[in-house]
Amino acid sequence: MDSLDFDALEQQARAKMPPASFAFCATGADDEISAVENIAAWRQLRLRPRILRDITKIDTSISLLGAQVAAPIVVAPMGRHKMFHAEGECETARAAAAAGAAFALATNANMPIEDVAAARGSAPQWFQLYLWPNRSEVEVLLDRVAAAGFRAVMLTVDSPVYGWSPRAARIPHHPSPDVRNINMPGSPMARTSYDTAFKGKVMFPLTWRDLEWLVKRTPLDIMVKGVLRGDDASRCIDAGAKAVIVSNHGGRHLDTTVTTAAALPEVVAAVAGKGEVDVDGGIRRGTDFLKALALGARAVMIGRPILWGLSVNGAAGVQAVLDHLREELVRAMQLSGTPTLAEATPDLVAR
Ligand SMILES: Cc1cc2nc3c(=O)[nH]c(=O)nc-3n(C[C@H](O)[C@H](O)[C@H](O)COP(=O)(O)O)c2cc1C
Repeated sequence: MDSLDFDALEQQARAKMPPASFAFCATGADDEISAVENIAAWRQLRLRPRILRDITKIDTSISLLGAQVAAPIVVAPMGRHKMFHAEGECETARAAAAAGAAFALATNANMPIEDVAAARGSAPQWFQLYLWPNRSEVEVLLDRVAAAGFRAVMLTVDSPVYGWSPRAARIPHHPSPDVRNINMPGSPMARTSYDTAFKGKVMFPLTWRDLEWLVKRTPLDIMVKGVLRGDDASRCIDAGAKAVIVSNHGGRHLDTTVTTAAALPEVVAAVAGKGEVDVDGGIRRGTDFLKALALGARAVMIGRPILWGLSVNGAAGVQAVLDHLREELVRAMQLSGTPTLAEATPDLVAR
C-alpha cells in the first residue's frame, strides 16, 4: 500500500473497489464543485513559519471532549463500510484504536454498535446520528449507544434531504442482502443516499426543537455536524451542544457551499471558546492539518482517505493512513517552528 502518496493510494483503492463503491466514495453532489474546492481551499492558504524555535520535542496530544488522544485526528462518520471491506466498521474502528485516534460510527453502519464498541480499546468513540421520524426507535438507539460506551452523539444537520449525484446515478450501487444498515429498525439492505429508493425513509428534516430534545434525552455530549455559519454555531452552543463540526459533508449534498477552510474562522469566532470546534472536508496533508488547527479547529476529521486505506488493506490500511497523516502533521509542526498545538495560532496562516 502506498500511504506516502494519497493520489496513488486513491488509484490503488479504485482498482480494488467495485466501480459503484468507488463512485459512492469519491462523488460530490451535482457538479462536485464543493468536493473539489474543499481540497483546493486548504492548499491555497499559505503558512508563515516561525524560525529558530526549539522543535526537538513535538507534542500532538490533545483532549477531545475530555478524552485524551495522541493527535487531533478523527475518523469521520461514513456509512456502509461493508461496501469497502467484509468486516466493515469493526475493521476501521480497530485501526483507529491502534492509531489512538477517535472514531465516529455512522447511523448507516453495517456492523452492530456493540461489535464496533468492542474494537475500541482505549480510543474514544462517537456516534453519528440521523434522527428517524419514529422517536421511540431513536430512543432505543440512543440508549444502546450510551450503554456501549460511546462518549458523544454527533447530530448531522446538513442534509435535511439528500443531495443528488449524477456520478453515483451513472454507476448505481445494487443493494445486497449481506450488506445491511444493521442498526436501523428492520435492518434494511444498505442502499446509498443517492438511491431514490432510500430517500425519505431514514431522514427527517430537523429543526432546532429536535436539537433541544436530543440534548435533554441523552446524557452524552452532543456535537452538531454540518455547521458553516457563525450565527448557527453560537445557537448550537446556546442550545446545549458541546461541539460543532464545520463541514459541508465532503460536498456530497449541497453543492457550491462555502469551503470549510473559509467557514472555519467565522465559526471559531462565534463559538468564542464556549465549545469545541472541529472541521472536515478536503484535508489531505499535514500542512492542511496545521492550517486547520491554526485557524482554531480543535480536531480534524478525515473522510475518503480512510475508505481508500480500508479497501486496499483493511485495518492495516486505515492505520497506515492515520499514521501517515500524523507523521506529516509532526513534520509540518517542525518545519514551521510550532512544537505544541497551543502554538498553532492564526498568525501562522497568511490570509
Ligand atoms: C462514502 C461516504 C459516506 C458518508 N456518510 C456519512 C454519514 O453517514 N453521515 C455523515 O454525517 N457524514 C457522512 N459522510 C461525510 C463525512 O463524515 C465527512 O464529512 C466528509 O467525508 C469529509 O470530507 P473528506 O472526505 O474530503 O475528508 C460520508 C462521506 C463519505 C465519503
